[in-house]
Amino acid sequence: MEELRPSVEATVGSILDVMADTGEVDVMADLAFPLPVSVIGELVGVPAADRASFQPLVRAGSAGIEPFVDNAGVVAAMAAQDEMRAYFVDLLDERRRQPADDLLTDLAEARDHDDALTDAEIISTSILLFAAGFETTTNLIGNGLLALLRNPEEFERLRADPDLTPSAVEEILRFDSPVQVNARTALEPAEVDGDKVEPGQMIMVLQGAANRDPEQFEAPDRLDLGRKDNVPLSFGWGAHHCIGAALARMEGEVVFRALSDRFASIELTADDVPRRPGITLRGLAALPVRLEPVTTR
Ligand code: HEM
Repeated sequence: MEELRPSVEATVGSILDVMADTGEVDVMADLAFPLPVSVIGELVGVPAADRASFQPLVRAGSAGIEPFVDNAGVVAAMAAQDEMRAYFVDLLDERRRQPADDLLTDLAEARDHDDALTDAEIISTSILLFAAGFETTTNLIGNGLLALLRNPEEFERLRADPDLTPSAVEEILRFDSPVQVNARTALEPAEVDGDKVEPGQMIMVLQGAANRDPEQFEAPDRLDLGRKDNVPLSFGWGAHHCIGAALARMEGEVVFRALSDRFASIELTADDVPRRPGITLRGLAALPVRLEPVTTR
């Protein structure tokens, strides 16, 4: 992932050039979505021209991981998943005919070389990687910038001390986690706060709430970019810990560093910042700001 950092810096640099020229932007539409979708699209091998059309599909499809969803939501999620599957079936065919330097080709070749991957596995792995690779990181960027704008003294602290960036990203992940809810199935009998849990029973894990646990984090509702021993649950835990955590952290570091370096001021232009519906994935619908570039550039 570190090898990708220079190309992510270059992409962020050119997005911020356009934002600086425009002056007033919606950070969600202009940076938070286009950056991660282009990074993960490049890695997986989804052609640039097709990437934007995945945002509505991934949003509809992710109803499948929401705890509360109505029938219409389920039907729309299934239709979106079918459409993504059909797209990747064609793309996999194309890569078999014409291999490229991307993950889809690697997965296809891993199977051809007698590995255990079936077509169904290649396709579901590619969809999962691609879909999980942007909606979450989009929300890391949006939630993070909003937290910094609402805590200007912390934003100043970051501007003054670039070495703080990795710990700032960790704290942003803790403070306003892009994934709030997770699920686990019990393997053995357990008791949680007086309630019995039987093997095979599924439990919802509120990782966003665990990130604000006062027994774990001192003054949990305070954004403290220099927080020590900060281990949030935002990327999950154990065998299924997020495979993209290093990539997401790196993208977050590049973005928050570049925003602090490039702009003398970033000002919210709306009192009320709209959130997207949903409980599992927590993010903003829009983040309108006015930008003041640093004058020395
Ligand atoms: C800030 C950004 C991200 C957040 C908050 C996030 C969060 C999570 C969470 C909570 C899980 C479940 C872990 C568990 O159950 O213990 C997960 C799994 C996963 N994530 Fe991420 N993720 C992010 C970015 C990414 C990126 C960039 C990718 C792709 C490169 C990715 C790919 C995956 C995959 C494939 C899994 C399933 C892993 C498995 O089941 O073994 N994620 N992520």
